[in-house]
Parts: sequence; C-alpha cells; structure tokens
Amino acid sequence: MRDRLGRECLYVPSCRLGLYVALRHWCPPGGRVLMSPVNDDVILFVVLAAGLRPVQAPLDPRDGSLDAAAVPEETWRGLSAVLTTNLYGNPDPAPALRARCDRSGIALIEDAAHAIGSEVAGRPVGTFGDAAVFSLSKHTAAKAGGFLAVADPGLREALAKSRDALLEPPRRTAELAYWARPYAEAAVRGLRLAPAAWAVLRMLGRQERADIRMPLRPDALGRAVAAAPALDAFHSWVRVDLHDYRTDAGGPRRARIGRKLARLDDVLARHLAGTRTLLASPWARPGPGPVQPLFRVPLLVEDRDAARAALARARIPVGYLYDPPLDDYAGAAFTEPSPAPEAARWFAAHALPVDPLRADRALRVLAESGTRPARGGPGGV
Ligand SMILES: Cc1ncc(COP(=O)(O)O)c(C=O)c1O
Repeated sequence: MRDRLGRECLYVPSCRLGLYVALRHWCPPGGRVLMSPVNDDVILFVVLAAGLRPVQAPLDPRDGSLDAAAVPEETWRGLSAVLTTNLYGNPDPAPALRARCDRSGIALIEDAAHAIGSEVAGRPVGTFGDAAVFSLSKHTAAKAGGFLAVADPGLREALAKSRDALLEPPRRTAELAYWARPYAEAAVRGLRLAPAAWAVLRMLGRQERADIRMPLRPDALGRAVAAAPALDAFHSWVRVDLHDYRTDAGGPRRARIGRKLARLDDVLARHLAGTRTLLASPWARPGPGPVQPLFRVPLLVEDRDAARAALARARIPVGYLYDPPLDDYAGAAFTEPSPAPEAARWFAAHALPVDPLRADRALRVLAESGTRPARGGPGGV
C-alpha cells in the first residue's frame, strides 16, 4: 500500500478502527465533522464514539458524492474535519475539499473503504487527506484488515501507539472462525441453504440487521454519547458486521490477508470490466469522470426493493444499501441534518449497488424482471 500511495501506511484490523484512530488524532472532542448521509451507519457511530458531532452534507444525486459547492458557508464555520466516503468507489471531489480544508485550517480524512483502486484528478483516492483509511474487507474480500495512510510520515509512530492501545489480542476461537468462514460459506452456497443459514445466524445474534439500518436504540445511544470519546461504550454499534474490528490478526489471518492483497491488481481489473458492463446498461447514469474499478455500481432503479428481491431470488445478494440517509435515520439528537436532504434521499431510495463481478447475471435478472430505470431526481437528474 505504501508503494501504491506513496504514503506511509499502518495496518489496522478494520477500516472503522482506523477511522476512529484518525478522528481522535485530528479532531478535538466536541468537534464537528462534515460527512455523507448516504453511508454505512457504523461510520456514524464511529464519529459519535470519537466524541464528535456528525454534520450531514448535501450530495450529488448522480453518484452520491459530496457536493462541496452546496455546503453553506455557515456550515463550514466551526468544522474540525471533513470525512469523505467515496461511495461505492465513486470519488468525492477531493481536490476541492482539500483546498477548502486548507483554507479553513482543518483536516481532510478520506474513507477509502470502497475506493482502493479509484483515482481523482490523476491521483489515487487516499492521497489527498491528512489521513486515509482503507478496508481489506471490500475489493480484496479478506473480511478483515485495513490500512491507515498518512500524509506526514512523522506521525506513524504516534498513530501506531494509539492503535495498539485499542487492539485486543488475537483469540484462538476468533482465528479459527476466521479461517473456517470461507469453507462454511461455500458449503452453505453449495447446499443451497442460504436463507436457512441466515435465519440461524440471526438467531445466534451474529446477523444484527433485520433491516438495512441497524436498530438505533436512542436511549442507550444517548448514554454512550455522554461517555464519548470512548470506543467501549459504542462497542455494540461499531462491531456490527465485523465483530473482530479491533482484534489483532494472528498468523493465519495475516497470511490470508497477504495472499488476498497480492491479487489486488487482478481483482481491480475484473471490477473495472464489470463496471464498464453495468455502466453501459439502461439502469446506469455514468458520471462525468473516467470509469473506476467500482466496489459496487449504483444502478438507479424505479422500485429498488422489487429489484433487490428479484436479484435475491436469483441468488445475487445486494448489500451496502444506505437507506434512509443518516440524518433521517438518527435524527437531530445525534447529527446535524443536511441543509439540502432531497438529493441524498432520492439517491438512497433508488440506488441498487450491484457487484461488478456479477454484472452479466445481474443485468439478465433485471431485464427479465422488468426492472425500470429510475425516473426524475432532484435538480433534473
Ligand atoms: C463506506 C464504508 N466505510 C467504512 C467501512 C468499514 O470498513 P471495515 O468493515 O473494514 O471496518 C464500511 C463497511 O462496509 C463502509 O461501507
């Protein structure tokens, strides 16, 4: 990753832990952080855990990127940082955000979880911020691991210390579960047991989302916010989908992550090819920039839930849905709402993030199920 980015990098067991470390380092407790409302709810809880107030930004309805120009002047005043999302791999306008953060003297932190192969203005996503955090659970599908990349190499040691203070030691049971998981999943797929297996996982409490968003539990969340900054108080929200998010990797886990990362260029080439296929379909609205090796391609469809169900029947799961936007989900008690929420609402309701590695099959199912492209959209999009 250092060679790819030309930046000093630090291994972290998950992107979310790396973001927590970065937010604690660059933002004083009580600070305000501009972020995207169309984002994983886990990231909202990471910002809250860092003792910060999330501020939701207006979005571009074409690709869900941050609309920097639509952020009102009064919102910029009093911000401690901007946190980008690079949703599904579509880059946020990093050069404009970098310039604006420099003018305001605040940090730019890039969440590059979805954007490990994306570029903007000819540079990799993750090379604009004071810090950038990558997830190896996404393109590389290692289901663990990530990197915190920093602009100032002199900070590496201090950040490593902060990370180490948060790590839990590798546990034999966790290592074993990590090792066994791909085999168990292959068996479930091979035996066509997926719905039953998910029901069992839900029963065992390892599948915490019955819906797209996890339950907010506002009373408990209020108590956690009063204890922030503190990761422990937010454990039950931050661990969702990745219980080992702060567990140091043992030998076998490191070895598998290393093998997966070594194949990254091949994976990116396949994501790029699938992205091209999906962007040429009637459900796509390609943005103005060059095509990226997207993690997911947000097709825009009229009835998202029906399209998702049609894909599920064909055994093509659609995850990474972020609906409703975080300000509608969490309310003003836990986040400052966006000054222009319509574009985010429209995008969140219509985006169908399709895995580019399953492009051909997904397009066949969408055609056969009569899925219609989304009509309209804010601003005539
Ligand atoms: C935009 C975004 N950022 C960060 C993360 C967290 O990544 P990790 O699971 O490696 O902590 C996710 C997880 O899905 C995500 O969607």
